[in-house]
Amino acid sequence: MADDNINLRVPGPTPLPDEVRAAGARQMMNHRSADFEAIMREVHTDLRYFFATEGPVLTFPASGTGGLEAAIVNLLSPGDEALAVSVGVFGDRFAEMASAFGATVHRLSYPLGRAAEADDVARSLEEHPGARAVLVTQNETSTGVLNDVEGIARAVRAARPDALLLVDGISGLGTAPLLTDAWDVDVVVTGSQKAWMAPPGMTMVSVSARAWEATRTARLPRYYWDFAKARKAVDEGNPPYTPAVSLYYALQAGLRLLRAEGREAVWARHDAVAAHAREGAGRLGLGLFADPAHYSHSVTSVVVPDGVDGKRLLRDARDQHNVHFGDGQKSLSGRIIRIGHLGWVDDAQIDAALEALAAGLVAQGWDASRAAQEPSRPRVDPTPTPWLTGPSDPSRGSDVGAHSTHG
Ligand SMILES: Cc1ncc(COP(=O)(O)O)c(C=O)c1O
Repeated sequence: MADDNINLRVPGPTPLPDEVRAAGARQMMNHRSADFEAIMREVHTDLRYFFATEGPVLTFPASGTGGLEAAIVNLLSPGDEALAVSVGVFGDRFAEMASAFGATVHRLSYPLGRAAEADDVARSLEEHPGARAVLVTQNETSTGVLNDVEGIARAVRAARPDALLLVDGISGLGTAPLLTDAWDVDVVVTGSQKAWMAPPGMTMVSVSARAWEATRTARLPRYYWDFAKARKAVDEGNPPYTPAVSLYYALQAGLRLLRAEGREAVWARHDAVAAHAREGAGRLGLGLFADPAHYSHSVTSVVVPDGVDGKRLLRDARDQHNVHFGDGQKSLSGRIIRIGHLGWVDDAQIDAALEALAAGLVAQGWDASRAAQEPSRPRVDPTPTPWLTGPSDPSRGSDVGAHSTHG
């Protein structure tokens, strides 16, 4: 049952501040009115500030996945080659989606826990001269890894100045720097339930001038996701279809709070609370799963120690302390615990969550004092060097298996 005292430590949806909850509960209004137009204008101005772009940021009533699909259908044509850089479940999903729409997808995949390297991206683009789009995840929520989008963007521009760089910023944007225009990123996608302190259901998508140009020639069928219609909505304050009115109210309230805090301060808060989570996990003697050079600002993955039942830890934290962590996904289920810390979060919530985790560990006989003598070591998957794979075979659906064997 939903309750007010929940310590919701999944990496989205996040807890909501009172202002956002009150806004979401407001009475409906005519969505074709000056009042709604004013809300749209404010929200879209604030979104451009957080995306660090002068270009349009479009919205669709959908979770983040809808925004990724919108990017694909507006920018690609059947048979287009794309390079999909994947460091986990969500990178795989972006690749799968492009395959599902008929793109020829070349994969650059990494062992779980690792981040992508800009040099590998440059090399992959050399090996695939036909690739006209690059798909990258900013923050891989399944492992707690933050990719170096700035470095990757630089590598892409150096290797292929006209390539389209599509970034899944769903759980990363707003928690860590992503300077869309300055880094020359073509599309960034996020979702309302992540850094934005709003409920799920709205996706936000920035579109560069290069990407607009691409929409003119892209031949995948599109209707509801059509960027041109969505842009007209932003320009004229008049959405093509019934908008998610309550989500606009809530997002407006969330963005007001974040704007008052300031973009850089919000990034710094996430960075600090993430460091606090890692330190706390270290004090419990827990190893961290992600590459230490690329820790996520949104989610910290701790390794379930040998002899401890990860599922029971999750259950005990939930049932006895009302702390809800994220389980590992796919091959990492039961093997890592993901501590979400994005959106409306501070150190106190992390401390309470870690106390619950500590109690669960003690209940399973975990000897924290022994662990404390062996300093927490990051545990990165030992699989050597990243590998390149050829075009994915759509009949296989995806090469998620490549990851599951390495997780
Ligand atoms: C990096 C990333 N990509 C994609 C998604 C899918 O987003 P949604 O569940 O909002 O469709 C998520 C959700 O957690 C995510 O973290």
